[in-house]
Amino acid sequence: MAYISLEHVVKRYKMGEVTITAVDDITFEIEKGEFVIIVGPSGAGKTTVLNILGGMDACDEGTILVDGKEISKCNSRQLTTYRRYDIGFVFQFYNLIQNLTALENVELAAQICKEPLPAEEVLRHVGLGERLNNFPAQLSGGEQQRVAIARALAKNPKLLLCDEPTGALDYITGKAILKLLQDTCRQQGMTVVVITHNTAIAPMADKVIHVKNGRVDRIVYNESPMPVEEIEW
Ligand SMILES: Nc1ncnc2c1ncn2[C@@H]1O[C@H](COP(=O)(O)OP(=O)(O)OP(=O)(O)O)[C@@H](O)[C@H]1O
Ligand SMILES: [Mg+2]
Repeated sequence: MAYISLEHVVKRYKMGEVTITAVDDITFEIEKGEFVIIVGPSGAGKTTVLNILGGMDACDEGTILVDGKEISKCNSRQLTTYRRYDIGFVFQFYNLIQNLTALENVELAAQICKEPLPAEEVLRHVGLGERLNNFPAQLSGGEQQRVAIARALAKNPKLLLCDEPTGALDYITGKAILKLLQDTCRQQGMTVVVITHNTAIAPMADKVIHVKNGRVDRIVYNESPMPVEEIEW
C-alpha cells in the first residue's frame, strides 16, 4: 500500500446557486520520501488538492490515506491534530509573523509539536545561522522563505506541502529554494509535494502530476530526477 493515497477525491464549493467542482475525481499515490510536483493551469484545482491533503479543507467524496490514517474520515478535532503533528506547510508569501524574529517564528511553530527539531539548528541548516535575530522585514524574500521552510521542517512533519513556494521570488533565489527542498527530500527522506506553474522544473521530481479542470491529466515518472541546479528555464 502506498504511503499516501487519494482515491476518487471530489471537492465542490457552493457559492449561492452555483456549485464549482474544484476537484473532480482525483486519484494518485505518493511514496515515502518522494519529491512530487503538481503542475497545471490557474484554477485547475492544485491548491484545493493540497489543502485537502493537508487537512485544511475536507473533501466531499473519496478516500485519503496518509501513513495508514484515513484523513477523509477525520472530524475537525482530528484534523487539527493531523495538521499540527504530521504536516508542514510552505506558502507563496511566506506568512511569517512580522513582530517575531526568524528564530522566534520557528520556535513558535515547534512549540505546538510533539517531537520538534531544535529551531536554531534547523535555521542553520537552511543557511540562516547568522540571521537568527532578524525580523522578517530585515530579510530578503528568499531568506524569509527559508525561515518559512525552517518553520515547517522544525515541526518534523511526515509530509511537507509547498504551494508555489517560489512564486514571489526571482530566478536565482527561486532556484536556491527549490534546491533546499530537493536536498531536504534526498538527505532527510522527507516526503515533499510542490505546486508550481513552472513546468520546466518537472525533471527534478520523482513524479509529476499534471492537473487540468479538477482532474489528473497525466502522471509522469522520472527514472533519474535531475538536480535542480542542472535545469535551466
Ligand atoms: N474557497 C473557495 N470557494 C469557492 N471556490 C473556490 C474556493 N477555493 C477554490 N475555488 C475554486 O476552485 C477552483 C480551483 O481552485 P484552486 O485554487 O484549487 O486552483 P489552482 O490550481 O490552485 O489555481 P492557481 O494556479 O491560480 O493557484 C477555481 O475555480 C476556484 O475559483
Ligand atoms: Mg493555487
